[in-house]
Amino acid sequence: MTTGLKIKPADGKLGILTPGMGAVSSTFMAGVIASRRGIRLPIGSVTQMGHIRLGKRTDNRQPMVKDFVPLAGLDDIVFGGWDIFGDSIYEAAVKAGVLPLDLLNELKDELDAIKPMPAVFDNFYVKKLHGTHVKKGATKMDLAEQLMADMKAFQKDNGCSRLVVVWCGSTEIFLKVSDVHQTVESFEAGLRSNHPDIAPSMIYAYAAIKLGIPYANGAPNLSADIPALETLSKQTGSPTCGKDFKTGQTLLKTVLAPGFKARLLGVSGWFSTNILGNRDGEVLDDPGSFKTKEESKLSVLDTILQPELYPDLYGNLFHKVRINYYPPRGDNKEGWDNIDIFGWMGMPMQIKVDFLCRDSILAAPIVLDLALFLDLSKRAGFGGIQEWLSFYLKSPVTPQGLYPEHDLFIQQKKMKNTLRWMMGEELVTHLGREYYDDLSQDDR
Ligand SMILES: NC(=O)c1ccc[n+]([C@@H]2O[C@H](COP(=O)([O-])OP(=O)(O)OC[C@H]3O[C@@H](n4cnc5c(N)ncnc54)[C@H](O)[C@@H]3O)[C@@H](O)[C@H]2O)c1
Repeated sequence: MTTGLKIKPADGKLGILTPGMGAVSSTFMAGVIASRRGIRLPIGSVTQMGHIRLGKRTDNRQPMVKDFVPLAGLDDIVFGGWDIFGDSIYEAAVKAGVLPLDLLNELKDELDAIKPMPAVFDNFYVKKLHGTHVKKGATKMDLAEQLMADMKAFQKDNGCSRLVVVWCGSTEIFLKVSDVHQTVESFEAGLRSNHPDIAPSMIYAYAAIKLGIPYANGAPNLSADIPALETLSKQTGSPTCGKDFKTGQTLLKTVLAPGFKARLLGVSGWFSTNILGNRDGEVLDDPGSFKTKEESKLSVLDTILQPELYPDLYGNLFHKVRINYYPPRGDNKEGWDNIDIFGWMGMPMQIKVDFLCRDSILAAPIVLDLALFLDLSKRAGFGGIQEWLSFYLKSPVTPQGLYPEHDLFIQQKKMKNTLRWMMGEELVTHLGREYYDDLSQDDR
C-alpha cells in the first residue's frame, strides 16, 4: 500500500514550549531528562515504549513505534515555556511535589536552567491566580505579537529546527463559541479591540498557529477549537488536536464504559467524585473553571454509550461529576466512582472504583507523545485537526457534524492505523479470514 506521503526527516532539535509550567509541565520535563540520562523509564508513553504490529499475525513484525515512524529523539528535545510565576522548572517541580526530591536533585542543573518567559495572563479568566511574571500590552494583538517574538527568539537561540506548543496552563473559565471566534478576520479584529471572549490560551494558540507551529491544549477550556483558529491552522499547515489530557477517572471511564456497552449491560447511574489538593484543584474550586472541566468530563459517557440507540440500557443514566479541593492530598488525587449497572432481567449490580492516582504522572507521557506526534504530523504536511490523536484527550475535536469517538480502544486502533497508513503499510482490520483460508486454494 502506498500513500504517496513524503514525511520530512526529524533533523535537528525540536523545541517543546508549554504555556503553564506547573505540575504537569515540570513532571513531563523532568521525566524526559531522567529518561534520556537512562536513570528512569518513560512509562506510559506510546512513542517511547509501544510496539506496533505490521502485516499478518504470522509475519512476526512488531517494531517499536519510535523505530517505525520518524520521530524526534528524546536527546533532540529542548524545553521552554511561559508562566505567571518566575520559578524555574526545578522550583516548580519541588513545589508540585510529584516526583521525589532525590530524583529532582539529581537533575537539578538542567531543571534549574529551564526558566519561564513572562506570560500572557488575565485574572478574569482564572480567578484563583494572581501572577507577577506577566507581559504588558495595550491590546491582545500586541500580546500575541510578543508571544510570536518569544517563539522565534527561542527557536533561534536554541538552534531548533522546529517547535511545538502544548498548553499546560490552568483551566480558564467557561466560554462559548461566539461571533468573534467565527473567522480569522473577526478573531484578529477582536485581538485588536481586546474582545472579552478571547482568553489568554487563545492568544497563545493564535500565535503558534499563525507561525505554522503545532498546538495542543491539555486543559478543557476553549482555545484552538474555534472556527477562526481551525481555518487558520489549515491555512498555515499547523496541526492541532482535541483538548484536555485524558488521565485519571476519565481514562478509566473510557476503558470501562466500552466494556459495559460491548456486553450490552445497562447503566443507571455513574457518580464520580474526586479529592485533590494541587494548584489545579485550587483553580477548579472556582465555579467558572469547574464548569469548563465538568462539560469536558460529562460528554464522555454519552458518546460512548449512545443512549439514543440504546434507550432501554442508557436512556435514564444519571451521571454526576464532583471535584473537591482538599489540600492535604497535594497531587495525589483520590477518585471514587460508584457505578450502578443492570443485567439480565434488569437485575441491578454495583461497581466501586477507588483510584488513588497521580494525575501529573499520567499526564506527563501524554505531553511527550502529543508533542512528538504533532511534530510528525507537521513534517507529513498535515494541517488542522488531527483526530487520530483523540486517544490522549478527554474532549476530542472533530469537524462539524461528526460526533467524537471517546472509546479508548477505537481511538487506539485509529491511531495505530494512521501510523501504518502514513508509512504505507496495510491497515489492520482484525478480520483475519486469511488465517483460515484453505491452503489448497493458494495452489489453484
Ligand atoms: N494533571 C492531569 O492529569 C491533567 C489532566 C487533564 C488536564 N489537566 C490540565 O492541565 C493543566 C495543568 O495542570 P497542572 O496540574 O500542571 O496545574 P498547575 O496549576 O500545577 O500548573 C498550571 C500552571 O499554569 C500557569 N498559568 C496559568 N495561566 C497561565 C497563562 N495564561 N500563561 C502561562 N501560565 C499560566 C500557572 O501559574 C501554573 O503554574 C490544567 O489546566 C489542568 O486542568 C491536567
